[in-house]
Amino acid sequence: MRLLFTIVFYCMTLPFLPLSAQITVDHLLTENLKNPVGLDNEAPRFSWKLLGQRRGIMQSAYEINVFQGEELLWNSGKISSSQSIYVPYTGPKLQSDSRYGWQVRVWDNLDSLSTWSAMSSFHLGFLELTDWKAKWIELAIPEPDTRPAQMFRKDFTTRKRVKSARLYVTAHGIYEAYINGKKVGEDYFTPGWTSYGKRLQYQVYEVGGMLDRGRNTLAAEVANGWYRGNLAWENQKDIYGKKLGLLTQLVITYQDGTSETIISDQSWKGDFSAIQYSEIYHGEMYDARLWQNDWNTAEFDDQSWYAVEEVDHSLEQLISTYNEPVRKQEVFPVVKILTSPKGEKILDFGQNLVGFVMVKALGKTGDKIVLSHSEVLDKEGNFYTESLRAAKQQNTYILRGENEEIFAPKFTWQGFRYVRVDEYPGSIDTEAFSAVALYSDMPLTGEFSSSNDLINQLQHNIQWGQRGNFIDVPTDCPQRDERLGWTGDAQAFSRTAAFNFDVHNFFAKWLKDLTADQGSDGRVPFVIPHVLGENAGGSAGWTDAATIIPWNMYLVYGDQKILENQYKSMQAWIRFMMNNSTDFLWNKGFHFGDWLFYRPSDDNDGRSAVTDKYLIAQCFFAHSTQLMINTARVLGKSKDETLYRALLKNVKDAFLREYVTPSGRLVSSTQTAYVLALNFDMLPEHLRQQAAERLVQNIKSYGNHLTTGFLGTPYLCHVLSRYGYTDVAFDLLLQKTYPSWLYPVTMGATTIWERWDGIKPDSTFQTPNMNSFNHYAYGAIGDWMYRVMVGLDNQDDSVGYKSIRIK
Ligand code: BGC
Repeated sequence: MRLLFTIVFYCMTLPFLPLSAQITVDHLLTENLKNPVGLDNEAPRFSWKLLGQRRGIMQSAYEINVFQGEELLWNSGKISSSQSIYVPYTGPKLQSDSRYGWQVRVWDNLDSLSTWSAMSSFHLGFLELTDWKAKWIELAIPEPDTRPAQMFRKDFTTRKRVKSARLYVTAHGIYEAYINGKKVGEDYFTPGWTSYGKRLQYQVYEVGGMLDRGRNTLAAEVANGWYRGNLAWENQKDIYGKKLGLLTQLVITYQDGTSETIISDQSWKGDFSAIQYSEIYHGEMYDARLWQNDWNTAEFDDQSWYAVEEVDHSLEQLISTYNEPVRKQEVFPVVKILTSPKGEKILDFGQNLVGFVMVKALGKTGDKIVLSHSEVLDKEGNFYTESLRAAKQQNTYILRGENEEIFAPKFTWQGFRYVRVDEYPGSIDTEAFSAVALYSDMPLTGEFSSSNDLINQLQHNIQWGQRGNFIDVPTDCPQRDERLGWTGDAQAFSRTAAFNFDVHNFFAKWLKDLTADQGSDGRVPFVIPHVLGENAGGSAGWTDAATIIPWNMYLVYGDQKILENQYKSMQAWIRFMMNNSTDFLWNKGFHFGDWLFYRPSDDNDGRSAVTDKYLIAQCFFAHSTQLMINTARVLGKSKDETLYRALLKNVKDAFLREYVTPSGRLVSSTQTAYVLALNFDMLPEHLRQQAAERLVQNIKSYGNHLTTGFLGTPYLCHVLSRYGYTDVAFDLLLQKTYPSWLYPVTMGATTIWERWDGIKPDSTFQTPNMNSFNHYAYGAIGDWMYRVMVGLDNQDDSVGYKSIRIK
């Protein structure tokens, strides 16, 4: 072994307990969340961890209690089972808007019994549509062309002592809610991005502690966001609707057992916010002179505010929130302040990250702060924004001119390492600036370090690529005018993602949007949520996200429900491929192919690694069918399994007829062609080893370089290892010259680049049309690094690491 590793794989970390300690149960989760509020699953599922000091302890039985208040609602009895994840509640019917407590105890394999765990809780949101009393409200007057954010407010009085209160809230747009001037919760970009026309999430917050006895104010600020902001390139907008809106219901329970409900309705007032402009791609413009002091508190007089109108939008789409919200994470100070050759003042935060810059300033009224964001500097050291395309990524603040003022945007984010200070009152003090990373609050589950600093940096870059692009949906990139849920990128990276962070709920939610947006012909859109043209779907290796991600999630988390939920969607996707095939050959339609494969600048030297797109399509057709077979087997659908087995044989036969010579050469003699054919078992046994040799020869012919694009790359090292060429896989991994994983590292990358040569050795850039410096797809090597290089995997047919192989 050339590398030494330290591995932290949190699922397996064994805590140290005093010697005398017996087994205990800890880490209680409901639907994989800690004390969740607002679930809409009537049979929520429980998970826990067994802790103990002896080796080889296993659970042999468990018992669960569920309480409503003090009262025992359900006792599972002693259940002989080793299952400790996703155990469903099967007691009496649970009630809307109710909180429950639960605990568990377990028996181990020596039949010793743990104590009862500490109490955990879950809360169910609205289970029936009729629970919603609130009305959608919208501002009743025309808005300025710049479409500022909008504010809504309502005063109310509590006359008794409050025991608890829950705020149910969602918006058309993205919102922040406030009670008595304080932000509710810590989440960003709520209600999150889903296929709004079919699925719109609401959030539920426990807010009892925020209410005062007497006068109170419930308020919200709403901005364009994904709902009606610029989205899907350039200046497309209003994809889901034209008007911002708010829907909220506050349910207050008093100490005496009575309750009261405050709803959004005509009695609210509205106005335009000091956030004069807010776009995800372009940034925010905040004019502090327009800030209305205390607007979200009971001190405020809203007489001059506008009326709102109740609008009859359907409530049918409302669903509770399933994944972790986007939250503030790491905070970075300025590492360096630079003056570029052009004279620009540039702050370097040392890390390409996604979030925003918080800035402090002291100035006169009307003074301006203008901050532009970029991922890289050009060859000369000037600020470079061309690769952002139409995205402006610029935040502007106009000072009110009182004391020190602090600014940060609320409804937008930027992808950046560098910030150009275009305007700032007075001299720039680096202490006044900090960069705040934002991403979905997924728990970190794995990391490792080795004796090789470049590999460590690669791992760092992979994780930061994930952080910056897991913003409620898996995006391709976080900075240019795109930031879409590209299916190909997501499927390629999904297994790696699940090593680094717990992405169970993140993908479970996104897959439901995939199903929601799937065409009646089974076509899966290129991006989820679907915001491109009607026929923008059905490309091999992209839209196989429909089968690949559910299966990966099952392997990693052992959650069969994801497969059950996705089964129909998976089947429909297979049907789409069948219907677009001739004699089982999927040879129709548009395909992205092996996106961004190696292409030297001189295209005529025959070195471009072009793989036939339909050959690729046939490989993914087979792969998805294989995953369908696996899924049907897990779910006990034996008739389906038989049908898919027959289909798979036909698909592979068609592949052999069309793309393979009798001696086993593929029509495209590229690394990706051999990698896919081998990884998906497209060739008969006797032709496999020679194909692996051809792959190795090909790699050698490029001087130990890879030439694969988005589709070949994730499997390249796996195939090499499987066929006895782990040494060649290491050569590729440790290769420092382009194309390779370490080349960007040697060029100072702190995230994964979209292209192998985003910055060329002479420090010039690849084409600005398509050159992101934060694109996780090539980070898919992380899966091989964990499973083969470090050697952690499920043992044989085990799933969810119930049985682990360390090798
Ligand atoms: C995105 C990719 C995506 C691709 C489709 C690009 O614009 O950034 O990552 O998969 O389009 O080929």
